[in-house]
Amino acid sequence: MNCRLFAFVLLTMTLLMSPSLVLAENGMAIAPEVCLECHDDVVSPVTYGASVHGQNACTSCHIDITSTTLDAHMEGDLTPEEPKCVRCHKKETSEHYSSVHMLNDVTCAACHEDIHAHTYWKNDKTKVIAKCTGCHDDHEDYIDSSHGKAVMAGNQDSAACHDCHSLHKIEQLGDPNSHINREFHTKVCLTCHADQEMMERNGVFSVAVGTYMDSYHGKNFRLGSPDKVAGCADCHT
Ligand code: HEC
Ligand code: HEC
Ligand code: HEC
Ligand code: HEC
Ligand code: HEC
Ligand code: HEC
Ligand code: HEC
Ligand code: HEC
Repeated sequence: MNCRLFAFVLLTMTLLMSPSLVLAENGMAIAPEVCLECHDDVVSPVTYGASVHGQNACTSCHIDITSTTLDAHMEGDLTPEEPKCVRCHKKETSEHYSSVHMLNDVTCAACHEDIHAHTYWKNDKTKVIAKCTGCHDDHEDYIDSSHGKAVMAGNQDSAACHDCHSLHKIEQLGDPNSHINREFHTKVCLTCHADQEMMERNGVFSVAVGTYMDSYHGKNFRLGSPDKVAGCADCHT
């Protein structure tokens, strides 16, 4: 038998012989039922099973508890660390990485605090608004704006918090006179208000962007000097 073939056979045999090792790597070595025997006071088995992570073992997030360390955990000698979502959610993690929330220690778990019961959001804009206003309660006046009223009435075209600020890559606006902040007052409106078709189906004055861009204000915005003029959000709150 040549060397490479031998190595291949050996590898296959190892894999076949130790399914528990493979399962352990998937975090499946300990069935959720084992954990729930002690933890069903904080994690409901039914709600957990129906949640987005219902197919995950508890140990896929609480990775420090393995079949080797379970005893120590049960005796109170091993407290698992805060789970790291990055292992499975690379995109959201990198977006969150340099956001204003990361800079202020608002972690994934701080926003997704219903982690054991979380269900798919299916792009439901009202869920985002409920979440953001949970902390930014001074933003409840948004609910009374034409955007807020339309979203609440089920209009998915209208703007919710993440349409203007994005969901995970939320930038600090900081100094009201900074270039970023000034540019933001106009840039965020264009995605939708420059979309003639969307504006027409919503019965909104569809030439607002064109009119603005032709104005003194718009010319300065286009030339890269939003700092000098009024942006959309200065006149429209
Ligand atoms: C025999 C009971 C028992 C079993 C089984 C058990 N735990 Fe625990 N667990 C405890 C006790 C006791 C604590 C400590 C309570 C405390 O300090 O708040 C704890 C605490 C925790 C905590 C919270 C740590 C913190 O930050 O306070 C997590 C997370 C946890 N267990 C996960 C698990 C997982 C996952 C499993 C299954 C792999 C599991 N536990 C199995 C008894 C158990
Ligand atoms: C998707 C990842 C994920 C999965 C899967 C998961 N957890 Fe958790 N769990 C978390 C996070 C995040 C926290 C909060 C940790 C923190 O804030 O330090 C937590 C906290 C806990 C706590 C402490 C709660 C408290 O209020 O003190 C326990 C106990 C726990 N989990 C048990 C479980 C059990 C049992 C399962 C499986 C049925 C499970 N977890 C599955 C992410 C997860
Ligand atoms: C072991 C891998 C794993 C880890 C670790 C993990 N997740 Fe997940 N997560 C999943 C899977 C799988 C899904 C379901 C994806 C699907 O069905 O498309 C999911 C779905 C989600 C969803 C719902 C997505 C949607 O479309 O609505 C959220 C929110 C989420 N996870 C947040 C977290 C957070 C926060 C953490 C850290 C506390 C975390 N996850 C840790 C695997 C993981
Ligand atoms: C400032 C609050 C906040 C923070 C911090 C946050 N999220 Fe989210 N995330 C949301 C909201 C709001 C939604 C959409 C509504 C929902 O699912 O509840 C969401 C949705 C998601 C989704 C589904 C995305 C999709 O496109 O369908 C995933 C996955 C997710 N978050 C993972 C994470 C992870 C991982 C972290 C940390 C790196 C994180 N989130 C940090 C608020 C936050
Ligand atoms: C139509 C776009 C738009 C929508 C929708 C929107 N914002 Fe804003 N937001 C802005 C603009 C533009 C600013 C710049 C500050 C200003 O002059 O009002 C801002 C500023 C902020 C600030 C920083 C300044 C302050 O007032 O505290 C926070 C925090 C904020 N928004 C959160 C939210 C939340 C939470 C929601 C959803 C409830 C939301 N925004 C919805 C455009 C929007
Ligand atoms: C768990 C609490 C929490 C949630 C939920 C939350 N935020 Fe924040 N947010 C903060 C904290 C803390 C800061 C930093 C301090 C500050 O500027 O208020 C911040 C800052 C911001 C800023 C920057 C403000 C500035 O002056 O530059 C914006 C914009 C913002 N959040 C938007 C959102 C949006 C949009 C959502 C929903 C997707 C959201 N936040 C959800 C806690 C939260
Ligand atoms: C996600 C898409 C979206 C974004 C981003 C957006 N809008 Fe809108 N806007 C709409 C839609 C859709 C309506 C119509 C809502 C309705 O049905 O009343 C609307 C309505 C309006 C109205 C009221 C028009 C009327 O006829 O009552 C004004 C003014 C407005 N937007 C200004 C802005 C400004 C300023 C910005 C940027 C700060 C902005 N919008 C960002 C989609 C958006
Ligand atoms: C210098 C102030 C100013 C600026 C800058 C400005 N607008 Fe306006 N806008 C107005 C006034 C005044 C009206 C007409 C009065 C009204 O109905 O509010 C109007 C009307 C509108 C309408 C129709 C509203 C309605 O109730 O029918 C929309 C939509 C709109 N603007 C969007 C925008 C967008 C998007 C921008 C940026 C590209 C922008 N505006 C920039 C002042 C401004």
